[in-house]
Amino acid sequence: MTQATEPVRVVVDCDPGRDDALAILALLGTPHVQVDFITTVAGNVSLERGTANALRVLAVAGREDVPVYAGASEPLNRVLVPGSALHGDMADGDPPLPEPSQAVAGSAHAPLRDWCREPSDVPKRLVAIGPLTNVARLLSEDGGALAGIESLYVMGGTVGRIPTRVSPTAEFNFHSDPEAADIVVRSGVDVRLYDYDVTTSCQIPVDALAGVADAVGSPVGAYVEGWLRHLWEYANKVYGRAGVAVHDLYAALGAAGVQPERWEWHAMSVDCSDEHQGTIHATPSEPGHGVAVARGLDPEAMLGYLVEAARNVPGQAS
Ligand code: RIB
Ligand code: CA
Repeated sequence: MTQATEPVRVVVDCDPGRDDALAILALLGTPHVQVDFITTVAGNVSLERGTANALRVLAVAGREDVPVYAGASEPLNRVLVPGSALHGDMADGDPPLPEPSQAVAGSAHAPLRDWCREPSDVPKRLVAIGPLTNVARLLSEDGGALAGIESLYVMGGTVGRIPTRVSPTAEFNFHSDPEAADIVVRSGVDVRLYDYDVTTSCQIPVDALAGVADAVGSPVGAYVEGWLRHLWEYANKVYGRAGVAVHDLYAALGAAGVQPERWEWHAMSVDCSDEHQGTIHATPSEPGHGVAVARGLDPEAMLGYLVEAARNVPGQAS
């Protein structure tokens, strides 16, 4: 793995979500990354809870200068089954989230559309780590909506059709809104996909979690370790895993310049039938053609980047 440090501007489209929260912290604490704003989408939790959680995560980071805009409250063509029905809502976990001092800045669609279009001397990368409803709406309105960004970093899908809690062959983000996922993977946008195959192959050993709060060395560390530990406890209970796969963190670090060992390229579509909802159909293709799927992540490196970034965020105003 390598770490590029050229300046980059990002927007994070998310459904916080503990791994979304860690992804946001990692980007806020990476010096060469400018987080312009956050957009939220219904997924792990309802849009209302996810938006409230995003505001609280920024309060934890001491970065309430970053606006939060609320996006889609339901998938394009389906009724959402929130992930919190399985793993709970981070607002109900330890340590308790602080009340934010900023309010939601408004609806996400126009700011996201305009950000993707606006000229920029610095490359722009959109990080989409929840269901792809907001991104698909932009593309449905204008097929060239994302032409102004360098690339779209997505956590979602499973090329290997690994069984998950929601489906025998599909991952939660793609399963929640398969129509949106299909629009995005077939859009021609430079999609950098962190699928469930690569994220679950990159598990941070539970033994490494014990020293995280101290390694961060600030009150933010307690949140980082608390969120990691909750994610591990769920994965260990449900899948018997010895480590924790921090799915969204890896896609966010990719956008921050932490590149995987390699990229596999696939022509790709997503099955929207009720029977196979969210299942990926992937055919190997040539580099530069189709969707680039990350492979070969290093869990020790990922934890190291997260701890280093968490040290860099100012933390809650005392
Ligand atoms: O399958 C993992 C994905 O679903 C992550 O984005 C997690 O936050 C949940 O949204
Ligand atoms: Ca997420």
